[in-house]
Amino acid sequence: MSYIRHFKPDSVFLVTGGAGFIGSNIVEKLLENDFTVRVVDNFSTGKRSNIEPFLSNSSFTLIEGDIRDEKTCMESCEGVDYILHQGALGSVPRSIEDPLTSHNVNSTGTLNMLWAAHKKNVRKFVYASSSSVYGDNPDLPKVEEKTGMLLSPYAATKMTNEHYASLFHQLYGLETVGLRYFNVFGKHQDPHSVYAAVIPIFLKKLLNGESPVIHGNGEQSRDFTYIENVIEANLKSALSPSNVSGMAFNISLGDRITLNKLYQVLTESLGVTIKATYGPPRPGDIMHSQADISKARKYLQYDPQYSFSKGIELTIDWYRENLRGK
Ligand SMILES: NC(=O)c1ccc[n+]([C@@H]2O[C@H](COP(=O)([O-])OP(=O)(O)OC[C@H]3O[C@@H](n4cnc5c(N)ncnc54)[C@H](O)[C@@H]3O)[C@@H](O)[C@H]2O)c1
Repeated sequence: MSYIRHFKPDSVFLVTGGAGFIGSNIVEKLLENDFTVRVVDNFSTGKRSNIEPFLSNSSFTLIEGDIRDEKTCMESCEGVDYILHQGALGSVPRSIEDPLTSHNVNSTGTLNMLWAAHKKNVRKFVYASSSSVYGDNPDLPKVEEKTGMLLSPYAATKMTNEHYASLFHQLYGLETVGLRYFNVFGKHQDPHSVYAAVIPIFLKKLLNGESPVIHGNGEQSRDFTYIENVIEANLKSALSPSNVSGMAFNISLGDRITLNKLYQVLTESLGVTIKATYGPPRPGDIMHSQADISKARKYLQYDPQYSFSKGIELTIDWYRENLRGK
């Protein structure tokens, strides 16, 4: 992580959604490197336990607030150099059940943050987009320029954000970088929510001796990426040159495995012989997903250091410690 030395030591970072899975991991890395970090989070899906260890650190400030509130956004951006905007309501099914709330948090919240970043002269606005913007385009691997018909309100919010971020660059000169995360995994990812992601759900069930449900036939595939690679992408985006502004990049490993294979890896790593239960496919889910990460390699010098198997090993260690019996 030698690139981290390119930040000025007195840099101030704002991490929205900093109590969530990805946000709290980014905050931890920034604090380990002695930067000043502010978090804005309303704890709708984030956990206090994720940021508990930081509360006693004098370089850390928590603003408990909502990015739907313009005033909160303005106050959060005061004196900030870099924004790493992770705050959002994730999950395709959640957005199908309640598109208004997903829109208000994800799109209006992002617009509020962009406006505040512009007004407060923030140097760089890095934000979480999503592979969901590829919609029904079946091409593999996914290249940034070829998106398809969107399949969910969640995808529409993320695509809207990319348009706004690009507009803010064009109209106001705000330096924005969008990161289309694929399937991220690692410590702090919530296994308990009804909208939880597949790896924490599988691990929670398997560690408790239960059979997880695989939706569909399990031959659908995903490009799973360990959290450390996503932290790298955020920090390198913050350091990226001005000519990168307004663009969005695929952030993943550039590989894919099926859910059946994932299940096999997890059961073998845990040393259990529980069989999965197969259920109906979920609406809005795509069959395959795999990123072409050459654009991020070229423009951001993104160079993911953690393989899938290394990431799974570290993730299992953390869930073993933190999840059994919960
Ligand atoms: N985890 C993934 O695989 C993945 C994939 C693609 C995109 N993303 C995106 O990455 C970002 C982070 O995702 P995550 O997996 O860490 O999710 P998460 O739910 O763990 O974190 C989101 C955080 O945002 C906070 N938040 C939600 N609404 C808010 C509001 N109105 N005001 C302030 N804070 C609010 C939540 O409390 C939570 O702490 C999101 O933008 C998500 O859409 C994640």
